[in-house]
Amino acid sequence: MSTDVTVLGLGPMGSALAGAFVAAGHRTTVWNRTPGKAEALVRRGAVEAESAGEALGASPLTVVSLSTYEAVRDVLRPVAGELAGRALVNLTSGPPVCAREMDAWAGQAGAHYLDGVVMTTPSGIGSRDFLQLYAGSATAFERHRETLAALGDATYVGTDTALSSVYDTTLLCQMWSTLTGWLHSVVLIGAEGPGGNVTAAEYTEVANRWMDTVRFFMSTYAAQVDSGEYPSGDFPLDLHRSTMEILTHASELRGADTGMPKLFRALTERAIAAGHGNDSYARLVEFVRREGRPGATLP
Ligand SMILES: NC(=O)c1ccc[n+]([C@@H]2O[C@H](COP(=O)([O-])OP(=O)(O)OC[C@H]3O[C@@H](n4cnc5c(N)ncnc54)[C@H](OP(=O)(O)O)[C@@H]3O)[C@@H](O)[C@H]2O)c1
Repeated sequence: MSTDVTVLGLGPMGSALAGAFVAAGHRTTVWNRTPGKAEALVRRGAVEAESAGEALGASPLTVVSLSTYEAVRDVLRPVAGELAGRALVNLTSGPPVCAREMDAWAGQAGAHYLDGVVMTTPSGIGSRDFLQLYAGSATAFERHRETLAALGDATYVGTDTALSSVYDTTLLCQMWSTLTGWLHSVVLIGAEGPGGNVTAAEYTEVANRWMDTVRFFMSTYAAQVDSGEYPSGDFPLDLHRSTMEILTHASELRGADTGMPKLFRALTERAIAAGHGNDSYARLVEFVRREGRPGATLP
């Protein structure tokens, strides 16, 4: 059965979210502070509410996409009475502490709260190739998983509402480090600019296949990090260290920035100096954290 859904906020992202719900056949009620932004959606079948309260009352599930948490509070506080028993999914970007505060407030109002992040731009909304991450009420996620799947790959990351924005930051960290490594490799292979022996496209075709191996390493090493045991198999840190020497040398020869190869090498050398030369690469997790800085709990 198709669930009715409300979208509060019709900026570029809110409009894309509402459009995806309409396209998936959900009765979609929309509201925006400034009138006039719902016209295209209404032509496609959405219903425009005259107030945020009316919009909330129209559906068991409301998705909020506003510029800031302050804006979310401005909009929701006056209509808190409408929230009891409903699912509230906040896809507004913000820090973990705001997610926790909103969770506590929504809980007092009787809502089942999910705090989410959208891991794409508006043009990617509606495609299963892109992630949305949700944290908070497991009940709300299970009840509305199918509806949220209209937006993309709906992924639940845990009950702590801070988790979605923490994942956001960590996944972007992984994206930037991967993309910077790829760009470095493009320079190393001599593909940048016209006239190289290998084009960036040719290199990337091979690199994409190599990512399957990298994925295998990540899964293997995740189990090692979780267990605190780092058996190296046939690829110990000592071997990584000597191969990194080649990377640093090649970077210097190509005139590439050597900051990244030197970072790899410095971490590896610290681990080897501490007696871990025969361990796997995953041992470096203990050296990524700055010395003497115990990790805080989530903010
Ligand atoms: N666009 C992206 O690529 C992207 C990607 C990932 C996540 N996000 C996140 O998605 C959220 C929405 O982004 P966006 O791109 O749609 O544009 P935005 O400029 O961040 O948000 C625009 C929306 O916020 C509303 N708004 C702002 N202040 C308000 C207030 N005090 N009271 C009521 N409504 C208020 C605007 O209403 P009015 O029309 O009345 O001004 C409009 O509906 C943001 O948190 C953004 O960080 C965006």
